[in-house]
Amino acid sequence: MPAFVIPAVEGRTDRASTTEQAGTWGSILPAVWSFMLAARERGLGTVWTTAQGPLERELAGVLRVPYDKVMLATFIPLAFTIGTDFRPAKRVPREQVLHWDRW
Ligand SMILES: Cc1cc2nc3c(=O)[nH]c(=O)nc-3n(C[C@H](O)[C@H](O)[C@H](O)COP(=O)(O)O)c2cc1C
Repeated sequence: MPAFVIPAVEGRTDRASTTEQAGTWGSILPAVWSFMLAARERGLGTVWTTAQGPLERELAGVLRVPYDKVMLATFIPLAFTIGTDFRPAKRVPREQVLHWDRW
């Protein structure tokens, strides 16, 4: 059965400084990514989505999450995939995004 995993992080970044935002998102993002990799290793597919963001307050209400203190950081659909014929995604050439010593 497919499921949604909804990682949450304490603290809201709505009006936070860039430093605070970096600290908060940097606390949750690696954990979610680790989870996604672990799922993949077990034959489960996941995908990072944020399109549901505008409904966060409503969803927090349904889930009884204290919206003022906790952010629903992302929504991760989780399910066994149809087949395992995965290929690397199309990417911008590395030279266009990698900078050495200076921008
Ligand atoms: C910050 C972020 C938010 C995303 N939000 C969505 C989303 O709301 N809906 C969606 O279909 N994909 C979203 N994506 C893209 C998917 O995570 C995924 O990269 C895309 O579906 C391509 O999948 P693939 O890499 O397996 O081909 C988002 C990606 C990032 C990095």
